[in-house]
Amino acid sequence: MASAYNQLLDATIRHLEDLKSRGACHVAVAPETLRALAQTTRPAEVPTPPSDEPAARPYQKTTPGHAAEQTSLLALPGETVPAAAPLDPQAKAAAFAALRERALACVKCAHLASSRKNVAFGVGSIDAQLMFVGEAPGADEDEQGEPFVGKAGQLLTKIIQATGLSRADVYIANILKCRPDTPGQTAGNRKPTSDEMATCIPYLHEQIDLIRPRVIVALGATAVEGLLGKTLGITKLRGTWKTYRGTPLMPTYHPAYLLRNQAMSEKRKVWEDMLAVMEKLEMPISEKQRNYFLKA
Ligand code: URA
Repeated sequence: MASAYNQLLDATIRHLEDLKSRGACHVAVAPETLRALAQTTRPAEVPTPPSDEPAARPYQKTTPGHAAEQTSLLALPGETVPAAAPLDPQAKAAAFAALRERALACVKCAHLASSRKNVAFGVGSIDAQLMFVGEAPGADEDEQGEPFVGKAGQLLTKIIQATGLSRADVYIANILKCRPDTPGQTAGNRKPTSDEMATCIPYLHEQIDLIRPRVIVALGATAVEGLLGKTLGITKLRGTWKTYRGTPLMPTYHPAYLLRNQAMSEKRKVWEDMLAVMEKLEMPISEKQRNYFLKA
């Protein structure tokens, strides 16, 4: 089985070869990334988990270097692979910073690179056990370079807080890192195209491979499609556990849907999905939390 160190090395080599094949002669690396790479733990020094580690791991807000359940940089969506060794925290931070730099400089979708104000790469803890994945940045996210900061984002923040966590305890990202352009329109968003999703998804795969969340929440149909491929509609999928490369994935409604459809019954469904997520993560659930929407 490839070690975490070798997986990172493979991913870095693949990226450099890709750059070279596209004519790049130099790579820009920030001084702090270089410093962190210089301190990277060698394979022989990578700590191994104690053999008597209990199977159940209740939610801890940050778990630097926690072992993946079954994810791998090299696995295909849906593929289950053996648990990987824990990542060295400094190597992980350096790899994440390098990934972010690549995404921020990305011009693979020329039309989006020229229309965007900012790349909304992702936000939160890179050691999060819980990760939320949405569709793509909207106007507010494009303006601020951060996912889920507009109206739908404010509702997502409330949902996260209702579980007892904060945005800083989880990680939030999108299928697309750039706002889908809307030429000729002054307002509104559009769904990402299949080509845009296919071009951008490797960044999300790498984010997940490095963060190794214990649970992923896919917000809406596009997030599910990006992570699992085209399956059933979100109405059929939500509330049912799926698996993304060995990691439990809960599809639920996008918060923008809840803003459009104010019915209490729909909010309650999303909350039920979050209760299932909290149970999976062995988070404490109070009576008040259990009964939030009981009368809806
Ligand atoms: N909708 C999304 O899917 N993502 C965002 O970041 C904002 C709105």
